[in-house]
Amino acid sequence: MSRLEILHFPDPRLRRRAEPVSVVDEAVRRLIDDMLETMYHAPGIGLSAPQVNVSRRVVTIDVSQDRNAPVCLVNPEIRATSGETETEEGCLSVPGVYEIVKRPEWVRVSALDRSGNSREIEAEGLLAVCIQHEIDHLDGRLFVDYLSRLKRQRIRKKAEKALRYA
Ligand code: NI
Repeated sequence: MSRLEILHFPDPRLRRRAEPVSVVDEAVRRLIDDMLETMYHAPGIGLSAPQVNVSRRVVTIDVSQDRNAPVCLVNPEIRATSGETETEEGCLSVPGVYEIVKRPEWVRVSALDRSGNSREIEAEGLLAVCIQHEIDHLDGRLFVDYLSRLKRQRIRKKAEKALRYA
């Protein structure tokens, strides 16, 4: 396994729409393992392939306290949602920024697992929020897109400054 470099907002590569995975093969499983290692090391509770510059519909998540319950979703699709919740979100691609985002509080999602089997999962609370946040990445959407234009511009300026001095 190896750690991958995480792209940072406002990198335009984060805005691409990722391609579906046609076959869950060894290369995809290696990507999943590398993403998990990258996510745990960061540390973060979720990571999407576009964030490590791989334009594929692959997501890894672990919202467990003990960091021992990895979830990987290949070609995830939201089938149903309900309710509404406001959660403070952050993102490994937007370091140091935490803002409240409003989303459905329950989701049903279909996806392939790391063996290529199709499955459906229902989630609520933090897991549901995290799944939606990561699926957004697959469509080139970031959590800062839910904020006001003014706030987003402020975050962008800060991020560009940080890049310049990195
Ligand atoms: Ni993110």
